[in-house]
Amino acid sequence: MKNKLAGRVKEMENKELGDLMRIIGRDDLISFAGGVPSSDVFPVAELNKITEDILSQRGKEFYQYSSTEGNNLLRDFLTEYLTERGLDIERRQLIITSGSQQALDLLAKLFINPGDKVVMEQPGYVGGIGAFKSYQADIKGIPVQEDGLNVGLLRDYLEKLAAGGDSIKFLYIVPDYSNPSGARLSAAKRQKILSLAEKYDFYILEDTPYSELNYYDSRLDYIKTYDTEDRVILLGTFSKFFVPGFRIAWVCGTEQVVKYVSRAKQNADLASATPGQMIFYQAGKEGLLKKQREKIAPVYRTRLETMSRALDRYFPDSASWFKPQGGFFFWIELPSGINSRELLNQAVEEKVAFVTGKAFFIDPEDGNQYIRLSFSDTKPEKIKQGIKILGNLIS
Ligand SMILES: Cc1ncc(COP(=O)(O)O)c(C=O)c1O
Repeated sequence: MKNKLAGRVKEMENKELGDLMRIIGRDDLISFAGGVPSSDVFPVAELNKITEDILSQRGKEFYQYSSTEGNNLLRDFLTEYLTERGLDIERRQLIITSGSQQALDLLAKLFINPGDKVVMEQPGYVGGIGAFKSYQADIKGIPVQEDGLNVGLLRDYLEKLAAGGDSIKFLYIVPDYSNPSGARLSAAKRQKILSLAEKYDFYILEDTPYSELNYYDSRLDYIKTYDTEDRVILLGTFSKFFVPGFRIAWVCGTEQVVKYVSRAKQNADLASATPGQMIFYQAGKEGLLKKQREKIAPVYRTRLETMSRALDRYFPDSASWFKPQGGFFFWIELPSGINSRELLNQAVEEKVAFVTGKAFFIDPEDGNQYIRLSFSDTKPEKIKQGIKILGNLIS
């Protein structure tokens, strides 16, 4: 069969993601592996009630196809949601996707010819690397600092390309509490990156799954808020701060961008599933999203604090990290000489799991010295226990 497959299939292999999905499926481990929200905080009873009401009153619609761009009531709700967050947009600038992972795939399909240059954070989101590699992009990783992407290095790279008459198609960035680094892009850097996009003529894919997951201070404006030249395509999802099971996410851009994404989506799945969109809209209308934000912040803040204290106590000084202010992740640089995969093998024997840094680098070998620890789906007692075991192994 191999000789019949397309060349891109080779690029789709992602050993680290495969390992991660296997670990997520095991319930005998203290797992810091998945970037998943805690099901302890899902508003199950409220959603059950909404679902029952919809089924008894609008069952026919519930089981019917949705339109490719998504349920209009939901798009109107999202328009309002984004307007409250400082954007000046209309419904026609929004399309619902099946998770923002689908949005990444569709945008990669729309923008990337084999060999096209794109830039992303490094370490950066494994699903972004996977989507861009699938369409055979030439991906350049720019290092991330505690206040986000190293903008100086981005500028140097763009300048060098421009000198050779070359440019990039887009920059993919997760500005708020990025996956896996936990870094938040400073307000000043948001402006600088937008100026670079204007100067060097590229798009910005601004992916914001963790933007509502700030546990200490208020949120920063989207880069898109200042986007007067329509260079920013904003992606959002309700997977992380509400529930991922509906697979409700959205892309916001110009009407033209929405048309292109809609064309690509038609070829992919015709439309997102109707039930989740209907339930989600009703939940939003009844104020459940707002309530959820208030409910989850203290829960995740406690878990973050617990992990931070446990790391200070049990990890050796030769490991390094910073304390994130939101999101789900701590990103750890291991003491030199420790191989993250060997550490993972030993940790799994002691019933603790995490993801090796390899998953988040364009060339996985560059990530050998790092691990990602997610605190979101583990109770505080287990966090302490798991970090102690890992700390002992590293020491
Ligand atoms: C940065 C980033 N983008 C996109 C996604 C995909 O989210 P969704 O569940 O909406 O597909 C994730 C999930 O881990 C993520 O961390």
